[in-house]
Amino acid sequence: MSEIITKLKLKIHALIFWQTSLGDIANNIYGLKLFYKYSFKNNSFKSKESEIAFLTKQYHIVEKGLALPNPRLGFGKQKIILLLDKSKKYEEKYGEDKLIISIKNCLSEYIEFNKKNNIKIEGSYFDSILSFIGLSKQQELGGTLSINKNELKKNMSLPFESFVKSRFSIRDFSSEDVDVETIKRAVNIAKHAPSVCNRQSWKAHVYTKEEQILSLLKIQGGNNGFTKSINKLIIVTTNIKAFTTLENNQIFIDGGLFSMNLVLALHSQGIGACCLNTCFPFTSEKNVKSVGNIDANERLIMMIGIGNIKDNYKVAISKKKDLNEIIKIN
Ligand SMILES: Cc1cc2nc3c(=O)[nH]c(=O)nc-3n(C[C@H](O)[C@H](O)[C@H](O)COP(=O)(O)O)c2cc1C
Repeated sequence: MSEIITKLKLKIHALIFWQTSLGDIANNIYGLKLFYKYSFKNNSFKSKESEIAFLTKQYHIVEKGLALPNPRLGFGKQKIILLLDKSKKYEEKYGEDKLIISIKNCLSEYIEFNKKNNIKIEGSYFDSILSFIGLSKQQELGGTLSINKNELKKNMSLPFESFVKSRFSIRDFSSEDVDVETIKRAVNIAKHAPSVCNRQSWKAHVYTKEEQILSLLKIQGGNNGFTKSINKLIIVTTNIKAFTTLENNQIFIDGGLFSMNLVLALHSQGIGACCLNTCFPFTSEKNVKSVGNIDANERLIMMIGIGNIKDNYKVAISKKKDLNEIIKIN
């Protein structure tokens, strides 16, 4: 009897997700449900992560303003009043951590900018900024950074075009173990990807145990023929708690940008990689989260199968479109 029920369930599952549009609707409802459960709205927060994301976004508005060619005098007053209010509440709860120091440094620079432009630092607005800054430690955390073009050029001397063109998805790795330290180096490089208001909501879950990797790859399903060749597995996720109204898609955009950086960073470290999609029913997403020890408030962006590079191997050419097919100059 239970066998019949299991078979029936599988049939219904297949019908919903593969043969009708119901699966898309169910997937979107699932996404929305998660989004409303964990994201923040109207500047009120259900988690520390959302508070961090909000404060990062809010003080980024100030540091971005200070980095403009001609910042408007007294810019950002309403945003800064809100930033101060939320920062004070955060500091009361969690103390003066790196985020608070970054905000204080950024606001110190804001005060200096106003002073330089002969704005009198007086009145309740500036007083509240000064009292919040207090005697904060000066570190290169928040604010702006001056860069010398010649210094920058030294770091840009690598031939980017040939580097990017030399990356291919690899599906045939050597049996040599990928060193976790090398993966860490790649993730440390990849974290320099841009993200909406610098919220950096991403996480790279790195799997090193064969059994767990095989279970995750089985759920993924797009790795037939090279499953055993994959030495380590990374799952990139983003944290819904860092997002607010109208940002549902941003979860995937930021996650995608980080993933691209990570694939290139792995390439720079001599590690081969193949992105593996997570375009599957939410039931599979839940399975991945359970097997992969991933929190419910994260969305899966992609898996990345990695391995060391063989002396000789083949890749799919995966021909790229011609420039005129993908560019429209207006
Ligand atoms: C998000 C994403 C998901 C992918 N999923 C799979 C997959 O499940 N299995 C696979 O073999 N390749 C997968 N690929 C690799 C693509 O097939 C490959 O990137 C594409 O053909 C271009 O080739 P290239 O990476 O060598 O430039 C995926 C790529 C991306 C970006």
